[in-house]
Amino acid sequence: MAAHLIDGNALAAKIRADVAHRTAALKARGIEPRLAILLVGDDPASDVYTRHKVKDGTETGLAATLERYPAQMAESELLARIRALNEDRAVHGILVQLPLPRHMDAQKVIEAISPAKDVDGFHVASAGALMVGRPGFWPCTPYGCMKMLESIGYELRGKHAVVIGRSNIVGKPMAMMLLQKNATVTICHSATPDLGAFTRQADVIVAAVGKRNILTADMVRPGAVVIDVGMNRDEAGKLCGDVDFEAVRQVASHITPVPGGVGPMTRAMLLVNTLEAAERASA
Ligand code: GUN
Repeated sequence: MAAHLIDGNALAAKIRADVAHRTAALKARGIEPRLAILLVGDDPASDVYTRHKVKDGTETGLAATLERYPAQMAESELLARIRALNEDRAVHGILVQLPLPRHMDAQKVIEAISPAKDVDGFHVASAGALMVGRPGFWPCTPYGCMKMLESIGYELRGKHAVVIGRSNIVGKPMAMMLLQKNATVTICHSATPDLGAFTRQADVIVAAVGKRNILTADMVRPGAVVIDVGMNRDEAGKLCGDVDFEAVRQVASHITPVPGGVGPMTRAMLLVNTLEAAERASA
């Protein structure tokens, strides 16, 4: 029997409705949650992503503003702008769109953001808080994946989760979140020999590599839950994930599609983080 699809669009819509409701409650108390998005340069993908973020914010009642800067902007100038936003009490979340131009040190820029406003969850303080189980902002993509597992009532305790990918933005924080829910976690990556030997033991597989068909049906145990974080293009230019979707859906119990899976959840979790930043600042 084909796997049950975890519909990221539908779940994200529910989350946005909840954000809109809580935002209205904050506004009734005179607080308008505000997200400042900083875009440096003219990367076409970043242009689309940041416009989506503004649109999502506006549609849920949050104030999301986009500041555009030329690619040749000095790093010191960007750092000064971030410091000013850190001090601005009307701004609750700060997001610097990546990638940054090559003359900038992205980690240094991210670390200039106040951890209290780090709604991307990329600051070392946010990563550290997740690691030790303290309050802090969780990176939106793995956070969205956790919400998808929660939406199917999946009990992670005692399960074996295999994460493919070890990026600071997805793989590593994903592993920490799964661990926090008492799963046994394995992190696989480009230097893992015989990936299938690991994935075949998994109850949950999160594929976050950025490589098409990295997970094929023979690598999945019947009944496993498969979360596909990949965003790739096939030969025809069609959007696809890291999972051989049509074959794997015949084996898995639950699977996320691409598009319409993790992508909309990432966007929704940014709204959640921004709202929470405003709620925490006003508590
Ligand atoms: N570039 C691609 N995805 C992201 C993201 O989630 N946050 C930021 N800041 N930049 C990105």
